[in-house]
Amino acid sequence: MLRQALLAASRSGGARRVVETAPFTRDVARRFIAGETIEDAVRVTRELTGEGLLVSVDFLGEDTLDRKGTGANVRRYIELLDRLGAARLGARAEVSVKLSAIGQPVDESLTLDNARRICTAARSAGTAVTVDMEDHTTVDSTLGIVHELRRDFPDTGAVIQAYLRRAEEYCAELSYEGSRVRLCKGAYAAPDDVAFSGKEDVDKSFVRCMKILMAGKGYPMLATHDPRLIDIAGALAVLDERDADAFEYQMLYGVRPQEQRRLAGQGAQVRVYVAYGEDWYGFFMRRLAESPGNLRLLARSLVGR
Ligand code: FDA
Repeated sequence: MLRQALLAASRSGGARRVVETAPFTRDVARRFIAGETIEDAVRVTRELTGEGLLVSVDFLGEDTLDRKGTGANVRRYIELLDRLGAARLGARAEVSVKLSAIGQPVDESLTLDNARRICTAARSAGTAVTVDMEDHTTVDSTLGIVHELRRDFPDTGAVIQAYLRRAEEYCAELSYEGSRVRLCKGAYAAPDDVAFSGKEDVDKSFVRCMKILMAGKGYPMLATHDPRLIDIAGALAVLDERDADAFEYQMLYGVRPQEQRRLAGQGAQVRVYVAYGEDWYGFFMRRLAESPGNLRLLARSLVGR
């Protein structure tokens, strides 16, 4: 119930004004984002890669509804990739892109052109793009765009949300040689006929999807903070004889940082998803919906503690 309410609030203009202007919420949001500027993103990326972690940088600009805004978002990505290229981080620092930031709500062919421009900049920087998955109504369009992008940029990453009832089918389709696939639980509100809603059902689907990806020919990117699922991933790697460099764990910046370092210290590849930008509201509300701990953090900040 609370999760649904927070996810609904993540799309509400009224709730947005209240949260964005409340004292201290920006400070709490800072726990999950690198900062508001490109310098913040590059600084945090350098720090994390310096510690042996991998990074995927996300510029926060989802749900941009006008062409001018999408063009500005594309330029921000190109500038970011220029900076990452200059830092010579190669594939250690990739970018994650939400298609709703670069035209999907406006026009699909504009989105594809914009995504191609970002992929071209990523290639020049020696790295790649992963296309985030958003609301369930956009899944087919997003997978279609990833398919098109992979013709010229085969290293483009796809994302599958385990809460989707069709998740296993998508994973099987994407389990081919060279296919980079991020598996996550899913962070958006979705109706019952499209997605599992119970935690146990979502977790079981995550395991079934992981089995397909780990046994398949692609490159699995297992995005979860869930200790049980992380253990199962480790067991599957042994079972499927996957070397440590043949898959990666992914976690969000600010969530379970010690676990990120523990896994990396054991020789695993761990990529940290680093979001930055001024438009942090939607991203932040989804983080609150995920964890009572995150919500307590906000509550404490609101009472000034
Ligand atoms: P869940 O939220 O069920 O938590 C399971 C357990 O993990 C908890 O019981 C606790 O033990 C631990 N845990 C979780 N949060 C914690 C915290 N804050 N502090 C301490 N422990 C915590 N979603 C999407 O729809 N599209 C996308 O493209 C992406 N992309 C993406 C990239 C990356 C790198 C990550 C990590 C996640 C995403 N997501 C996403 C978000 C994803 O769908 C999901 O909402 C979150 O990862 C939370 O799910 P968990 O798997 O962590 O499990």
